[in-house]
Amino acid sequence: MDIDQKKLPQHIAIIMDGNGRWAKERNLERLKGHEHGSRTVINIAKAANHLGIKVLTLYAFSTENWKRPASEVAGLFKLLRRFIKEERETLFQEKICLKVMGNIQKIPFLVRREVLKLCRETEKNQGMILNIALSYGGREEILQAVKKILQEGKKTISEKQFSKFLYTRELPDPDLLIRSSGEQRISNFLLWQSAYTEFYFTDVLWPDFEESHLYEAIIEYQKRNRRYGAIITKTF
Ligand code: FPP
Repeated sequence: MDIDQKKLPQHIAIIMDGNGRWAKERNLERLKGHEHGSRTVINIAKAANHLGIKVLTLYAFSTENWKRPASEVAGLFKLLRRFIKEERETLFQEKICLKVMGNIQKIPFLVRREVLKLCRETEKNQGMILNIALSYGGREEILQAVKKILQEGKKTISEKQFSKFLYTRELPDPDLLIRSSGEQRISNFLLWQSAYTEFYFTDVLWPDFEESHLYEAIIEYQKRNRRYGAIITKTF
């Protein structure tokens, strides 16, 4: 079965899980798993862009990930810097627009500066938005929204207005959320935005996740009947 171009999910979100187990299976250090995982990132971003996906959001570092050993945290940010440097050209060739979301004030200054610089430089690119969640937590995102709303002295607010206080204010909600490595949890990712998202779980570990796995997930998504709580099938 092929992908139906008319029913493409606009926004795909991915919980990239299983880097550590991938490394362990090979008697390698965990960071080697993350290193291979970052190669998967660019492959999947290109594949999604070629398909015509509008937004790809990747969970690269959660608020909880700060509790990992300092060496692993430092290694992850080093990989991110490497990614920014090595994939810069590819992002331009692909016309991908890079964005980051999360409590990014917490991430090391140099990494933050470089990432934000590339975000500004790719801002006008007309291809897919590659949105990287960094130091991101769904509860924290909701709380910071509530704090801002209180500061503004608002007494009442609609769902639509509330969404404008979230990191994803300019983005559509995800249509499809993929989690690799066999875990079936949301892990504090896009809690507000995934209210009507279709979930797809695969046992494949993130460093082994290939274009074909992305296509499988999209084909499965296209078989689903999205009703948004109603009876009539909503068309995509
Ligand atoms: C989860 O695997 C993965 C992460 C916490 C980090 C994801 C990071 C990357 C894929 C690489 C860097 C990202 C970019 C955007 C260049 P895990 O360590 O929890 O795996 P485990 O559950 O098997 O231990």
